[in-house]
Amino acid sequence: MTKTNELPIGMFDSGVGGLTVLKALRKRCPSEDVIYLGDTARLPYGTKSSLTVSRYAVQCAAELVGRGIKLLVVACNTASAVALTALREAYPDIPVIGVVEPGARAACHATHNHAIAIIGTESTIAGGAYQRAIHSIDAQARVVGHPCPLFVALAEEGWTDGEVPEAVAARYLDPVFNPAPGTESPTVPDTLVLGCTHFPLLAPAIRNVVKAETTIVDSAATTAETVNDELTRRGIKRADSVFGTINYLTTDDVVRFARTGTRFLGTAIGEGEVDLVDI
Ligand code: DGL
Repeated sequence: MTKTNELPIGMFDSGVGGLTVLKALRKRCPSEDVIYLGDTARLPYGTKSSLTVSRYAVQCAAELVGRGIKLLVVACNTASAVALTALREAYPDIPVIGVVEPGARAACHATHNHAIAIIGTESTIAGGAYQRAIHSIDAQARVVGHPCPLFVALAEEGWTDGEVPEAVAARYLDPVFNPAPGTESPTVPDTLVLGCTHFPLLAPAIRNVVKAETTIVDSAATTAETVNDELTRRGIKRADSVFGTINYLTTDDVVRFARTGTRFLGTAIGEGEVDLVDI
């Protein structure tokens, strides 16, 4: 029987966005094997109801758990925001780590003026998971949430710099970060959480809109740190002497996954490395 520390980590996202989290995990825990599942057939999750996202999330987890994993990373803000409880109930024996709590922790650590803005999908923002996670750490924080659904499509299409993403970023973010002179506006947030795994690709366009001193928080690195801590705490970390492998699974076109995924991961994904699964 395979020892627990030799088992892979399972990760899933609605598509390729979670590869930004995988990239951070590879950096923090290079010896771990990872199975990454992108549920591209059903992307986007961000416009769907909590019930539907929870059902999809449990199906993704079932596919990964069935392959034998030692820990599950929910590399999707939408699924982390609405399905974490359902996943933990479905798989009580497997540690389940989402991206919302690590992102909230990083934001509370970064802010000086206790004003934090969150951007994400409609579902992530409407569910209020970030707001709750931040308030559980910093009860006096003022949290504003803004859905930015077009960012997902721009990142998927590779339109991450230039006129179009900058115009979209300005339209979404100017009211919060650059309120018109004379408008009655509350404290401008000094911290912005990229509450969607697709958004780090748009960070340069977003940076053009927010003030230079605004801290932009991407939960990928903090999530990777949380995974490392959990593996260490449970004594299930793989020996450092090996270099881990990655298996990619997708629920839709393998060629598209490899092409768009390469951009998100920042390292080439070959079509031959991706398997199609029906969940
Ligand atoms: N990856 C998803 C997230 O982090 C965004 C894409 C979607 O809407 O499915 O929320």
